[in-house]
Amino acid sequence: MKLIKAADYNEMSRIAADYVIAKLHENPQIKLGMATGDTPKGLYRELVSDHRKNGTSYKGVQTFNLDEYIGLSSRDSQSYRYYMDSHLFDHIDIDKTNTHLPKGDVEDAFAEAEAYEQLIRDSGKVDLQILGLGGNGHIGFNEPGTPFGSTAHVVELTVATRSANAKFFGSLDLVPRRAITMGIATIMESKEILMLVSGEGKSSALCRLLEGPVEEGFPASVLRRHPHAMVIADDAALSLCS
Ligand code: F6R
Repeated sequence: MKLIKAADYNEMSRIAADYVIAKLHENPQIKLGMATGDTPKGLYRELVSDHRKNGTSYKGVQTFNLDEYIGLSSRDSQSYRYYMDSHLFDHIDIDKTNTHLPKGDVEDAFAEAEAYEQLIRDSGKVDLQILGLGGNGHIGFNEPGTPFGSTAHVVELTVATRSANAKFFGSLDLVPRRAITMGIATIMESKEILMLVSGEGKSSALCRLLEGPVEEGFPASVLRRHPHAMVIADDAALSLCS
């Protein structure tokens, strides 16, 4: 696993954007795996600004998001579909029919998870998967203890993860209890993985990722087994690491 150090959040976001843009120029039909949350907002901001300034086109790009809350429709401002539209897709020339997320407002979430896995498989491999890091080591919504062999599935969110996301909903009670997520095996199938980590609050998780054992109790550790995984971390995130 390769580690790239950045001075701060903005530099991390710029390095990540330069990397994604270079990959896109190499392969205009690139399949990108997308994450939501606070961490990739700067990356998406940089991609939008580059699109405006340099005209980088996303017309041939397909995207596959990691996850979506169950029970929220795409019009709900807390849904990950809404997040992706407002932070990225509405501001670039991507064809929205090429942007994929699990649907959160379906009757049968289990069938939707299976269909999402199938969709990703039928599309071939994701070329570059963007990831954030959960404070408890989760990737996507794969909580500690999720088997490394898991494919897309329905998860019961832990209180830790719901509490971390309460900042977006205003209160813990409003955070959905379940989500559909790519599995760990789904993520590991990507040809390349780019994880972004910023801030002191992520430091103990990042150090465990860099220095601890590979174990299902800490899902992100699986990235150490990926042949092309890269972490871009800022100084604050690295502050507790030896
Ligand atoms: C988001 C996702 C999550 C986040 C993680 C970090 O689609 O799947 O795993 O990447 O919870 O979230 P932030 O970036 O808000 O700290």
